[in-house]
Amino acid sequence: MSRAEVRVPDESALAEAASILEAGGLVAFPTETVYGLGADGLDAEAVARIFAAKGRPADNPLILHVAAVEQLRQVTRGVSPAALRLAEAFWPGPLTLVLPKARAVPPITTAGLDSVAVRVPSHPVALGLLRAFGGPIAAPSANRSGRPSPTRAEHVAEDFGDEVAMVLDGGATTHGVESTVIDCTESPPVLLRLGALTREAIEAVVGPVATTPGEDAARRSPGLRHRHYAPRARVVIAAPGELARVVAKLRASGERVAAIVREGEPGAAAAQVWRVPEDSELQGYARELYAALRGLDAGGVGVIVAESVPEEGLGRVIMDRLRRAAER
Ligand code: TXA
Ligand code: MG
Repeated sequence: MSRAEVRVPDESALAEAASILEAGGLVAFPTETVYGLGADGLDAEAVARIFAAKGRPADNPLILHVAAVEQLRQVTRGVSPAALRLAEAFWPGPLTLVLPKARAVPPITTAGLDSVAVRVPSHPVALGLLRAFGGPIAAPSANRSGRPSPTRAEHVAEDFGDEVAMVLDGGATTHGVESTVIDCTESPPVLLRLGALTREAIEAVVGPVATTPGEDAARRSPGLRHRHYAPRARVVIAAPGELARVVAKLRASGERVAAIVREGEPGAAAAQVWRVPEDSELQGYARELYAALRGLDAGGVGVIVAESVPEEGLGRVIMDRLRRAAER
């Protein structure tokens, strides 16, 4: 299988990408969160190609990307005041709103749900493509189902061959974790997926939001049921200060061990160490996490050890993704 063509996202590449979408094909593009695998969101056959290429279960709905809030009218029926406040505060940006679905959106896009997930991304290449194409672009993260989301164009090319006609290369993404998904068909809104926009930031705009415990969340957002974000290697989460000890213990039992270590922390005696930038808000850790999981995995280690971080702000998201990666 030949690899997807990786292109510098200049005007001519964007125009070509838009015509691929018009013809029902697939284009991968950078967003500020992770790379997306895009198709015409209103074309059922094109959307079916996304599910086939990713090996994505049909019960996991997609996010529609639009160029501006005005385009909501085309894909939704009615937007609650809370949803509008969130859109005004955070779009373009890493927030996905679940809203009542308009009939123009084919059932395959929303996995048969009566609601639709929508966001306006802030990445200039994503916005350029949306403007060149004109309509809503359905785009899940551009990884094969179950793999860590791609934060660089190479990750997309690793996962796909020529079923993806073009990959627009925008370099490394800014946030490195997916958008936050919030269900605005209910009042108060229900946080369905933690992501790059923190719960704290959302609550500062609309007040307290609900979070649903595991089983109910899985019913509302089918994606949460599926295994996610997992490298091939086993992932082990070490308690604060315990990383070196956990690594040593695993090595003593004959494992080939890799570690994700924050800068400034003492290194561990692992076969491979992936340093993530140390900053108080954990942006560096979030940005590098999936690249670290993919990179260490490619080195063929059996176990990846990561140290846990405090569960506030982005720390909540990092721990959520680490736990999912650690699930077997
Ligand atoms: O940052 C992101 O959100 C990236 C970029 C490309 O925009 N996209 C992304 O898409 O992460 P995906 O398909 O990997 O994740 C979409 C999530 C899934 O958990 C899915 O179940 C949920 O959004 N979702 C989509 N439509 C929904 C709906 N109508 N109701 C509830 N959850 C929905
Ligand atoms: Mg995904």
